[in-house]
Amino acid sequence: MAENWHKHDMDFLGGRRLRRTRRTAWSRAMVRESVLTPADLIWPLFVIEGQNEKTAIRTMPGVERLSIDLCVEAAKAARDAGIPALALFPNTPDHLRSENGAEAYNPDNLMCRTLSAIKSAVPEIGLIADVALDEYSSDGQDGLVRDGEILNDETVSVMIRSALAQAKAGADIIAPSDMMDGRVAAIREALDGEGHEHLQIMSYAAKYASFYYGPFREAVGTGSRLRGDKRTYQMDYANSDEALREIEQDIAEGADSIMVKPGLPYLDIVRRAKDNFNVPIYAYQVSGEYAMIEFAAAAGAIDRKGAILESLYAFKRAGANGVLSYYALEVARELGR
Ligand code: PBG
Repeated sequence: MAENWHKHDMDFLGGRRLRRTRRTAWSRAMVRESVLTPADLIWPLFVIEGQNEKTAIRTMPGVERLSIDLCVEAAKAARDAGIPALALFPNTPDHLRSENGAEAYNPDNLMCRTLSAIKSAVPEIGLIADVALDEYSSDGQDGLVRDGEILNDETVSVMIRSALAQAKAGADIIAPSDMMDGRVAAIREALDGEGHEHLQIMSYAAKYASFYYGPFREAVGTGSRLRGDKRTYQMDYANSDEALREIEQDIAEGADSIMVKPGLPYLDIVRRAKDNFNVPIYAYQVSGEYAMIEFAAAAGAIDRKGAILESLYAFKRAGANGVLSYYALEVARELGR
């Protein structure tokens, strides 16, 4: 058969054949533009009360909430795999959630106890503390609510107290995820005032009001509480220029690094941020993105491992310095092999 195939005259290529460098594995390795290493991966952990306790999350198969002692073990595993930092999220017991979210600044809350336990057992790993009220408030909103309105400046006052408690407990990076205006500057000033000038702020600068957060809300126990949505503070998914304004503002207020969230559907924002600002940029491969890969793989629709690596490389290609991913430990171990 083949001998009858007509060979087209390709003179117009002028010798330019892009397939040349793709022909062999060694050549593909040589021209590869992006790299993924364990140092690119930040691992989010969900914390619960108890001892030697882990609970499954229905919408995030493979991810478990862990009690503090198991978080310490997870931190050791992460350190050994070369992961530079963990992002912690508490599932606050129901009876401690309240309208004013006061548990957020209780120096003995679940978050603070986790920070100090990991800090003393595994001092080599960085600890990123999420600051927002949704994990402590009775309505699952990230801010204080009055007459259906999310109060900006009052929320910022509470966030400052929460960030200071986390700083004292051992946080290395304060990560405000609430999208209130002015919170980065307010937290920076408060940290500096208490001698925490070395603590970093990683701001969730471009955070969208997203449907991809569903499984996370189950994980931290806010899903069933939340009334309405978060569109008066998180961004409209139709917008892109506005994300640059948010990032610009947070850098001006003193953010050391910024985050884009969700991840894969917002890689255009990561790229624009990379092209416009000279700060470290992180992207969050959020719970819904994790769930989509897991459920599609379980249905036999995609190759799980291949899709995971492809998704993480996409972040690097877009210009992210690192990715918060529920796959961090699994992938870091795989890369280290
Ligand atoms: C809010 C917060 C959320 C996530 C991280 N921090 C949820 C929300 O804004 O409703 C989502 C992360 C994920 O979906 O994996 N404090």
